[in-house]
Amino acid sequence: MKTPHTKHSQLLRFVFVFAHVFFISNGRTLLSTNNHQMIRAVNLGGWLVTEGWMKPSLFDSIPNKDFLDGTELQFKSATIGKYLSAELGGGTIIVANRTSASGWESFRLWRINERSFHIKVFNNQFLGLDSAGVNLVAISTNSEASGIFEIIRKPDDPSRVRIKAPNGLFLQAKTEDLVTANSQANGGWRNDDPSVFEMTIVQRLQGEYQITNGYGPLKAPKIMKDHWDTFIVEKDFEFIATSGLNAVRLPIGWWTASDPTPPKPYVGGSLLHLDNAFLWAKKYKLKVILDLHAAPGSQNGYEHSASRDGSILWGQTEESIQETIRVIEFFTARYAPNPSLYAVELINEPRASGVPLDVLSKYYEAGYQAVRKHAPNAFVIISSRIGADATELLPLTVSKMKDVVIDTHYYNLFRDIFNSMTVDQNIDYVRVNRSSELQAITTSNGPLTFVGEWVAEWQVQGATKEDFQRFSKAQQDVYGRASFGWSYWSLKNVNNHWSMEWMIKNGYIKL
Ligand SMILES: *[C@@H]1O[C@H](CO)[C@@H](O)[C@H](O)[C@H]1NC(C)=O
Ligand SMILES: *[C@@H]1O[C@H](CO)[C@@H](O)[C@H](O)[C@H]1NC(C)=O
Repeated sequence: MKTPHTKHSQLLRFVFVFAHVFFISNGRTLLSTNNHQMIRAVNLGGWLVTEGWMKPSLFDSIPNKDFLDGTELQFKSATIGKYLSAELGGGTIIVANRTSASGWESFRLWRINERSFHIKVFNNQFLGLDSAGVNLVAISTNSEASGIFEIIRKPDDPSRVRIKAPNGLFLQAKTEDLVTANSQANGGWRNDDPSVFEMTIVQRLQGEYQITNGYGPLKAPKIMKDHWDTFIVEKDFEFIATSGLNAVRLPIGWWTASDPTPPKPYVGGSLLHLDNAFLWAKKYKLKVILDLHAAPGSQNGYEHSASRDGSILWGQTEESIQETIRVIEFFTARYAPNPSLYAVELINEPRASGVPLDVLSKYYEAGYQAVRKHAPNAFVIISSRIGADATELLPLTVSKMKDVVIDTHYYNLFRDIFNSMTVDQNIDYVRVNRSSELQAITTSNGPLTFVGEWVAEWQVQGATKEDFQRFSKAQQDVYGRASFGWSYWSLKNVNNHWSMEWMIKNGYIKL
């Protein structure tokens, strides 16, 4: 079925090709000099960079699996009825005088092994005992020098806990401003025992750091190998190639560049699977968009960038940037000889609240050069920042770079405005608002544009199959006007709508 919109996009494409030829014939290099084909891709998410929500069973057999790196906990004293809090967010004492809990009352775990943890407070100091060895404080910024704690759960009520301090005794909230580590914990689990706390799990992370450190060095290598061997296989490339798609966007993590001996807790073996992906891509004539999804230190604090505890450390030191450049160079040099290497995405979704534009811009310029050293004709993709307007990247790209692409991700999710939208409002939002956002960055002499992630999922309850078909069609129409193309998130997912394979096989998406 042809609609005015697909005709429109064909017209735009024609104009684009025409403009392309025109500019080249004028000796201009601002537009692509490649034989650019519209990308219709699918992400191979959750494969070489773990995301627990896409395949929760991966985490099932981790011992003490509620307590992984980055798990955020709150503790309410059973005796006082108030929350533990790092006074001032950290740097001084711990108190038990807050009636409600948010940032200062949240504690993040660093897992040493299944029983032992360092515990981090809001301002990034770690819990420990003061010089007298009794009062609980959050002063040290060095995890190694901080205390090692255990969390002991009541066997028949796991939200009731005691916390064992580095001195072998238990924490107790003696008064609202006196939290000490000197309880023998012999009051049963009664409310009048000040060593008893009600624990709430506020947030969990289930990324590559959590799974590898959670299983530990003995078990993680086999768990990861089994996942890599089975989650994406050659048949998937065949399926993609015969479904009307022409490319894959392949999220990778920085540690794969130091295979087979990546820094702990990451485990070796992923590079072989990336090599396989390139062999299969070549065999089935699919293009590969290599996407550095997880950069050293994490560029957005999410599990999908392998953040340890939700913090954003990438870009805060020159070393983290230099290391990332080396990673980009390693991958580009390794795969440049494969005709399937089509584009290198320098970093995925840096978050505006943690990564300043000037730091990112410097990295993009250096990363661009690193790709160019080995792959003169590959596209270089730069990702817009989460929480910032993608147009901010336009000044960077104009004239300085050739064959550069801006990637922007469109989800009708993750913001309150989508919570109450109907089917038609969702579709209108794509046709009107997304379309104008995309138009704002799709300029005639600037970079190409790419909707590198989208999904036919929304907050609508009880939508019909036909609703989904209309929604995915609207998105294909609009994102099809991105001058580089689009990529669905993702090929496989236990949540059906997030699995393009399921959506295609069940007729929800037609290409
Ligand atoms: C909690 O205790 C600390 C230390 O005595 C005090 O400075 C702070 O004002 C108290 N906060 C509340 C909300 O009572
Ligand atoms: C979408 O764009 C329209 C037209 O510019 C505007 O009136 C509307 O407020 C936008 N919707 C949202 C949810 O931002």
